Amino acid sequence: MRIYDHAWFVQAPMIICACEIPNKAWIRRDDKNYTDVDVAISIDHLILAATGLGLGTCWIVTFDPIATREVLKLPNFGEPVAFTPLGYASDQVCQKRRKVLTEIVKHEHWSD
Ligand SMILES: Cc1cc2nc3c(=O)[nH]c(=O)nc-3n(C[C@H](O)[C@H](O)[C@H](O)COP(=O)(O)O)c2cc1C
Repeated sequence: MRIYDHAWFVQAPMIICACEIPNKAWIRRDDKNYTDVDVAISIDHLILAATGLGLGTCWIVTFDPIATREVLKLPNFGEPVAFTPLGYASDQVCQKRRKVLTEIVKHEHWSD
């Protein structure tokens, strides 16, 4: 609860914390470090695979990073990026609201 103050967070049988090690990441020529992207891909694949198996997950980034470091005894070189609980959901999935593609896809150039 110190990490993320919601009762449902600690009800799942498993809670995964995805961490990055920035000084081991791939870095582009202009010095852009891709560690956030790599970890996001990893956790997103985990979430997709879990969903495919009928398991429930939830991206969580509004956790307390200081409490996370203390509770999980993270080394200084590691950085927590996101959590997800993992388990069979107790609720039904509610109706999804999605933006239409024309709101988020630009063709040829960025247009309003
Ligand atoms: C980057 C990111 C961070 C999020 N952080 C939180 C969070 O801290 N707490 C939370 O309850 N939901 C958070 N969410 C939202 C839930 O995970 C949300 O239910 C989920 O993205 C819905 O996905 P779906 O509609 O594709 O199933 C976050 C989502 C994203 C993409």
